Amino acid sequence: MLVVGGPASAELAREVARLADCGFVEVETKRFPDGESYIRLAGEVRNEKAVIVQSTYPPQDTHLVQLLLLVDAAVRSKASEVTVVIPYMAYARQDKVFRSNEPVSAEVVLKILKALKVRRIVTVDVHSPEVFGRVAVEHVNLSAIGILARHFLDLGFKGASSFAPDRKAARMAEEASKILGGGYGWFSKQRDRVTGEVSMVLEQGEAGDREIVIFDDIISSGGTVMMAARTLKGAGAKRVYAACTHALMSEEAYRKILGSGVEEVVSTDTIPTFTSKVSVAGLLAETLRRLT
Ligand code: R5P
Repeated sequence: MLVVGGPASAELAREVARLADCGFVEVETKRFPDGESYIRLAGEVRNEKAVIVQSTYPPQDTHLVQLLLLVDAAVRSKASEVTVVIPYMAYARQDKVFRSNEPVSAEVVLKILKALKVRRIVTVDVHSPEVFGRVAVEHVNLSAIGILARHFLDLGFKGASSFAPDRKAARMAEEASKILGGGYGWFSKQRDRVTGEVSMVLEQGEAGDREIVIFDDIISSGGTVMMAARTLKGAGAKRVYAACTHALMSEEAYRKILGSGVEEVVSTDTIPTFTSKVSVAGLLAETLRRLT
């Protein structure tokens, strides 16, 4: 197996290769004067199982095109098979037609990767794993919730309660609570598709006098975590922390979250940013060794 370090995830890919004890292929990249992406594998992948690691965080379109071009380069260079690791998958949230005349963007991304002949796709806490089944492409979705919860456990959070800001994330809070103890709770959340306005109701869980960690797959504008934190603080929570797999947020969103009473935000390096305190490299290396 050879790990190819896509430009968006070069550091993570290098660490995956080190932990998996396999070769690493660098990538050359530049922009043409008109803005188009150029990409080239700086090493040979002929007759090798190539694993391309490329996250598709902002600028999503550039990172996505780089990924597609890398897959084509690896296939044309006669890799024996190509696995793509997309730690954060852009367009995954548009997993169905919400309003008439919309595309299903997540399916579009997967159909192109399939057409380019990827053998399998590995993601981390992807928004909607069901979409992969619809496109019939081999898929492994890993969860970073265990390593995020263990990060808090190592910092002395044994007995803290785990909360999810929506019904879909409730399984994440439940999984985290098995590591932290302290039980779990969840909110129900509705988002107005046109205005983007969010409303939340605490459906399950006790907040009073507790240390709480809110777990979610994505923090973007920070609105979801802010609302959950305010409600939990209002219900008597002692201290509230936030953990997510993918931190898409800007520094301004981060400051807004802290302003709502959250002590700290912790995320993984699926999107390398100032809150990335936990690495998914070990998780990926272990999975790739088993799969390839
Ligand atoms: C939504 O279903 C996701 O799980 C996240 O809760 C959401 O994407 C967070 O977005 P924001 O930070 O903009 O509220």
